[in-house]
Amino acid sequence: MTTYQKRVDTALDGWLPIPDIQPHRLHEAMRYAVQGGGKRIRPLLVYLTGNALSVDLTVLDAPACAVELIHAYSLVHDDLPGMDDDDLRRGKPTCHKAFDEATAILVGDALQTLAFYVLTHDPHLEINDKRRLEMIETLALASGSRGMAGGQAIDMESVGQSLNIAELENMHIHKTGALIRACVKLGALASAIDDNQLKKLDHYAKCIGLAFQIQDDILDVESSTETLGKRQGSDIAHDKVTYPALLGLGGAKQMAAELIEEAKNSLADFDEKAESLHWMANYIVERHY
Ligand code: IPE
Ligand code: IPE
Ligand code: MG
Ligand code: MG
Ligand code: MG
Repeated sequence: MTTYQKRVDTALDGWLPIPDIQPHRLHEAMRYAVQGGGKRIRPLLVYLTGNALSVDLTVLDAPACAVELIHAYSLVHDDLPGMDDDDLRRGKPTCHKAFDEATAILVGDALQTLAFYVLTHDPHLEINDKRRLEMIETLALASGSRGMAGGQAIDMESVGQSLNIAELENMHIHKTGALIRACVKLGALASAIDDNQLKKLDHYAKCIGLAFQIQDDILDVESSTETLGKRQGSDIAHDKVTYPALLGLGGAKQMAAELIEEAKNSLADFDEKAESLHWMANYIVERHY
């Protein structure tokens, strides 16, 4: 995990504009939002998937950076007063607290477009242009109104409402699952995978993506602000609809565990190179932050 975290951090450092370049404050804030924290689970998934399919790591750097840039942007906007209104992220003041709201909005805008710039410009993406376009399409769909941003819209509309389990699942699949699913697809698109294998990996990704947000909801109840690096209890304070709120802690944990089993079953056809994807599935529900 540390090896890949370092690898993506170095690659991100190369793509982020240096604060010496104007506009200084925006560039400083972009680095603040991306660097120095975060588990880097999404880049890790790109690397692990690609590695399971014998893809050269240098080809995976661009999609790994791109998903983390989208993720970092989503966190900056998620923390804004108009959304979750949080003041702590990755153990530091949130971007709008450390800088200001206008800068935080622009950080999100700029990180999002940088993600697509990386995918279009990386010289190591020595795959054919069709695959490069498929990667761009995958990330665009996963980030927009039919993916992450759409899920965030449902999240905001749902505050104070009573959702049923299908509606809650739909929200989580979009706001968090879509980008996680895209990570696996991006790693796979860098390989010569066939449609049948891609379907199985996609099902794995769908299951772990939903389980990831269920675990995030559980940790909001069970963990501490110190461990999380973000405010524990933020969901309850903001009247959010979550799995523990709907199913209780036990029910939420059981649901997450079942999804992880289903994810691992979906890897049955892959050889020992996919072992790290099994590890990742377990990690998603065993993590403490
Ligand atoms: C938090 O994601 C936001 C969700 C989508 C649940 P992570 O738990 O991956 O956050 P970092 O990147 O490690 O800070
Ligand atoms: C965020 O979900 C999902 C995103 C797309 C950023 P949460 O609002 O639960 O994430 P945290 O708990 O603030 O990290
Ligand atoms: Mg939120
Ligand atoms: Mg939040
Ligand atoms: Mg949360």
